[in-house]
Amino acid sequence: MASAKLQFDGKEYELPTVVGSEGEVGIDISKLRAQSKGITLDPGYGNTGSCTSGITFIDGEKGILRYRGYPIEAIAEEATFSEISYLLLNGDLPTASELEEFDEGLTYHSMLHEDMKKFFEGYPPTAHPMAILSSMVASLSSYYPGANLEANLDLNITRLLAKAITIAAFSYKKSIGQPFMYPRNDLSYTARFLNMMFAVPAEPYEVNPVLERALNMLLILHADHEQNCSTSTVRMVGSSGANIYASIAAGICALWGPLHGGANQKVIEMLRMIQDDGGGYQKFVDKAKDKDDNFRLMGFGHRVYKNFDPRARILKKAADDVLEELGIDDPLLEIAKNLERVALEDEYFVERRLYPNVDFYSGIIYSAMGIPVNMFTVMFALGRMPGWLAHWKELRRDPSARINRPRQIYVGATEREFVPLAER
Ligand code: SDX
Repeated sequence: MASAKLQFDGKEYELPTVVGSEGEVGIDISKLRAQSKGITLDPGYGNTGSCTSGITFIDGEKGILRYRGYPIEAIAEEATFSEISYLLLNGDLPTASELEEFDEGLTYHSMLHEDMKKFFEGYPPTAHPMAILSSMVASLSSYYPGANLEANLDLNITRLLAKAITIAAFSYKKSIGQPFMYPRNDLSYTARFLNMMFAVPAEPYEVNPVLERALNMLLILHADHEQNCSTSTVRMVGSSGANIYASIAAGICALWGPLHGGANQKVIEMLRMIQDDGGGYQKFVDKAKDKDDNFRLMGFGHRVYKNFDPRARILKKAADDVLEELGIDDPLLEIAKNLERVALEDEYFVERRLYPNVDFYSGIIYSAMGIPVNMFTVMFALGRMPGWLAHWKELRRDPSARINRPRQIYVGATEREFVPLAER
């Protein structure tokens, strides 16, 4: 691809271009400041690439999402989450023996150090599970001081992926005052999580295959999404050389925001508000359009997808299937579908190309599975864990990677003299 030319301050600068494997073109400005003293400015980074990556490809215009080249539609219901975690982390689908070894690692490392149980005692029952998850993940670094050594990188990736579901399930049990259920080695990764969440010591618990299949699909759909806010945060923190636990804990905190992973909890709260209000969809669509009202249709809109989010399409169908298989009739599903219909008939949403995103239907399935609303964003984090880890590993293995340090354009006070307090 020919280089780009930039005319600036009476001079012309030639900027090299980078063309990706899907034909995306990046104008490389890494030498711009040295040549021209100017920088680019792109608040929110909507037009700025932070890296090249071989993990996930998204085409927002065509609604394409592929993990290492595999279309999300082909894997969401066919594969298991541990298979896709292996794919994201290692670049190819595992053979049967590779998957067996990977699963053994996820099983063997699923326990927490017994001392970590004491951490849970300090939280009030009302503690948000995302607060617990982020601090527990950062605290894991206390138990694995050698985590940052290159030789231990894959081991600590396995440790974190294995322990994430244990921390999440323990935070749920803590919130409802039930005893922790330890991870069972005889179960698959997703069945192990369901067992730790819903089993109680007093009676046997059989994992429902419908729930296990639904959980695999949900976690796969959330597994990676290139340079979204939380993954970019993991790369930002990882670029300083921070250990894997600190980097992922930062990503968990970024995901918690209501504009990002926190949206799935807000969607259910919004649907319940519409239900309590008698289902006046247009009233809420109008509220979302009103610039004087900070209400937004949560679960709608996306920085990249401008026609449809392929994950939302899969989840909309899965919501029908899972609720039917579980024999659950959740009025919020009809409310969600009606809200989508009314919004997509409204010029404001059509004009701004705002469509349901991954968070719009996911909560209805989580609810049907018995997962409480305040755990929804934790479920998103459990799904995104292999994606975050894959990007951290890709960054760590990139010999050209440097500490991320964006510039700015200063607009504050110019130089002025200090006036001692007595004279002010
Ligand atoms: C995720 O990046 C990723 O890939 C994220 C994610 C992943 O897998 O990691 O896909 C997961 O975070 C999905 C998004 C979940 N968030 C929500 O559902 C919250 C509601 N949506 C928005 O707040 C918003 O759409 C964002 C945050 C998702 C995208 O924001 P942008 O790209 O910065 O868009 P914007 O805020 O500049 O909006 C453009 C216009 C504005 O109107 P105008 O100023 O042009 O008049 O669209 C409007 C916005 O007011 N708008 C909405 C809206 N979303 C955008 N208006 C009403 N309701 C909404 N939901």
